[in-house]
Amino acid sequence: MSEGAAKKEEKPRKFQAIKGTRDLLPPETALWNRVEQTAHEVFATFGFGEIRLPIFEPTELFARSIGLDTDVVSKEMYSFPDPFELEEIITAYRFAESRTPGAGQILTIASLLPDHQMIAARPEATASVCRAYIEHGMQGLPQPVKLYYIGPMFRRERPQKGRYRQFYQIGAEVLGGTDAPAIDAEVIEMVMTFFEKLELQGVQLDVNSIGCRECRPKYVELLRAELQKVKDKLGADSQRRIETNPLRVLDSKLEHEQPIIEKLPRIGEHLCKDCAEHYAAVKRELGLRGVKYRENWRLVRGLDYYMRTTFEITASGLGSQNAVCGGGRYDGLVELLGGPPTKGIGFAIGEDRLILSLQESGKALAQQGRDVYIAWMGEKAHATAIRAAKNLRNAGFSVELPPVEQKFGKALGQADKLGARFALILGDNEVASGEWTLKTLATGEQAKIKEGHLIEHLKNAG
Ligand code: HAM
Repeated sequence: MSEGAAKKEEKPRKFQAIKGTRDLLPPETALWNRVEQTAHEVFATFGFGEIRLPIFEPTELFARSIGLDTDVVSKEMYSFPDPFELEEIITAYRFAESRTPGAGQILTIASLLPDHQMIAARPEATASVCRAYIEHGMQGLPQPVKLYYIGPMFRRERPQKGRYRQFYQIGAEVLGGTDAPAIDAEVIEMVMTFFEKLELQGVQLDVNSIGCRECRPKYVELLRAELQKVKDKLGADSQRRIETNPLRVLDSKLEHEQPIIEKLPRIGEHLCKDCAEHYAAVKRELGLRGVKYRENWRLVRGLDYYMRTTFEITASGLGSQNAVCGGGRYDGLVELLGGPPTKGIGFAIGEDRLILSLQESGKALAQQGRDVYIAWMGEKAHATAIRAAKNLRNAGFSVELPPVEQKFGKALGQADKLGARFALILGDNEVASGEWTLKTLATGEQAKIKEGHLIEHLKNAG
């Protein structure tokens, strides 16, 4: 069969975006751009530089950093063998089969594949920033190093409002030799300043300290022992977490568990001296910066690399997925990834949720129409219209130039639909007289304007 014949037999198929992913369309993308532009501006005023990171990294980077028992690593990562390595697996499989038929089948892909050959679509970027810090010897730069990133992340979660499988984060990290509490406070101040600039509504900042390698394990043991005593009253998830990660029980939203959790020992009362002093100093520094916060002893965060300061920010209009930003300190993560002793703190904002909240509270951009719609008729007017469009665009105006001529009535209707502010009317008369007609669509007013005065006129119109 010829290639052409094969093509003909192929049935058309409609495709849809994969579950949990979505297209971002205009005019909404204008709001995304404004949010990102504001991030670039605000973060630059705090001395942060942008880092652009790969979308995929070795699976092991995330497994080591975020922790094997976390939901993100154990359930939600898009992890796959590198295609070249896959070929190697198939070869290994065939080889095993050729020697002992059936042997290949009992080998799982995992057993054939060394960990470092698996790659994952990044579920977050803190681990990547630490990897880059080490890889580029950034400890040799003036410390601390302050970096931010904007981009898509991937987690195989159950999609719902504000929760997607491909979502976007705006994040920032500070890495260096000191864990001075002023750094924690300044990072938090920066994200709050950003939200203020965007006029995000209902912003609530929760802070906590979850201790360090010295004091946290002791607290976790105490918590585990207390949880054992009330085990029968807890749900299945919490019962399981008593063994795997008792701190996560504090995250529970189950109604009937709330009175039980309220009576559990609180980490604030079990911090070591250094952690307690650090936490007190962070709160003092937040106060000096006028940052309003609420202490929340149950804020433990779901990733393993955190220690000491943790924080989360919620905003209005988001329903159950109302955390618009999460962050905390992760001293020691760089070392865990083979780098020098380094302190670190940062946050990531869920950009999808930030946009949702802005839209719900009416703080989104008004739909952006065109500045000028050029209604032209006739061959001569066509050339004039092209020239006018070029000059207006060069001056920064957004211009719609219809590709074919239309009757003026129809053109004005189209200009209205596109939300244009002005219609520039060009017909034989205008071309002949050199006086163009400019119609203000909101008022219906018409003015005759010379070509050379048009741009100035529009600029003055504001
Ligand atoms: P995280 O709490 O896992 O932290 O995520 C930060 C934010 O990303 C969340 O508060 C939420 O707004 C957004 N987010 C997370 N998952 C989804 C999803 N499936 N759909 C939509 N938005 C989502 C981290 O990722 C850490 N790396 C933050 C950090 C940076 N800590 C220190 N430095």
